[in-house]
Amino acid sequence: MCLSPLHPLLLRLPKCEHHIHIEGSLTPSLLFSLSAKNSIPLPSVSEDPAFASPEALNERYARFSSLDDFLAYYYAGMRVLVTARDFSELAYEYLAGQARDANLWHAEVFFDPQAHLERGVDIETVVGGLLDGKRRAEEEVAKSGGKRLTVLFIPCLLRHLSVDDSAACFELMRGKGYFADGSLAGLGLCSSEVARPPGNWAGIFADARREGIRRTAHAGEEGPPGYVVGALDVLGVERIDHGVRAVEDEGVMERLSREGVLLTVCPMSNVRLKGAERIEHVPIREFLDRGVRFSINSDDPAYFEHWLQDNYCAVQEAFGLGREEWKTIARNSVEGSWCGEERKREILEEIEEVFRETEVSAV
Ligand code: ADE
Ligand code: ZN
Repeated sequence: MCLSPLHPLLLRLPKCEHHIHIEGSLTPSLLFSLSAKNSIPLPSVSEDPAFASPEALNERYARFSSLDDFLAYYYAGMRVLVTARDFSELAYEYLAGQARDANLWHAEVFFDPQAHLERGVDIETVVGGLLDGKRRAEEEVAKSGGKRLTVLFIPCLLRHLSVDDSAACFELMRGKGYFADGSLAGLGLCSSEVARPPGNWAGIFADARREGIRRTAHAGEEGPPGYVVGALDVLGVERIDHGVRAVEDEGVMERLSREGVLLTVCPMSNVRLKGAERIEHVPIREFLDRGVRFSINSDDPAYFEHWLQDNYCAVQEAFGLGREEWKTIARNSVEGSWCGEERKREILEEIEEVFRETEVSAV
């Protein structure tokens, strides 16, 4: 909740989220209860005192020093996810909760298949569970009336593992027909970025491109603006996840603007992982002024204690944007989505409606 007079508008805006790692919605309390249910031991307190309790873990989460510091907890945490039901519940809770709390209309959800495969959880368990959670959330939102929720899933290949491991995982998912039958909407790339340039994954992304599979990649989060260019040129991605370091290179900014590439920006993630000292340093103003399109996202909300609406509010508190600027952000979030044209039209119409209905109280 923010104190801005635009808060009611921001709450009512129909939202598209393109950058949420479903494993990053695992709260400390759920982590502890799944650890007990599945008999998966957590690191001992002598190894890491943060695992003393959910509260202690939450406190530790408030002190990440970098992306890699966070990723160590993120990969340790997701080990408690074992059954299809676990994945289903995780997806359902996030989707139904955000539809309720943030007026989420459309979500494109990342997950990390290699991190589950490497500890013996098979791909059917992961994908089947996520699809079940999506179905339940979509049905619940439809029953509550007034709006519809649409959800797509995007597996991310992991930079910290070998390229061969990524290739095997991609082949596994392709062999199961998940891309062809629409279970998976595209391919992403994430994890530890520095010194892992996108070009290493060129062969896999070229295969995906040949198969007509949509592509996106994390770039320019901790890595230099050249990684954004690499993701566009070498991986042929349509979107860039984060991309905030593009602001350091005028040529890259000009290209992003000219080509209308959507950046899936995660403001509070940048603050919590020390990419930005304060939210005021996230280049929201520069992107708006240069016509660089972006959407606002939560990334790993359970780890950063800011969910989707909190990110919108934090941006408004820091930048005091006007109604027209929010309309631009909302429309670009729809246009940059990977849903169909008919669905985009529905969301765009709702945006217009919300702006019409909040006009009287406009400031
Ligand atoms: N995986 C989950 N969150 C991530 C982030 N912020 N950057 C890279 N990989 C991630
Ligand atoms: Zn991310």
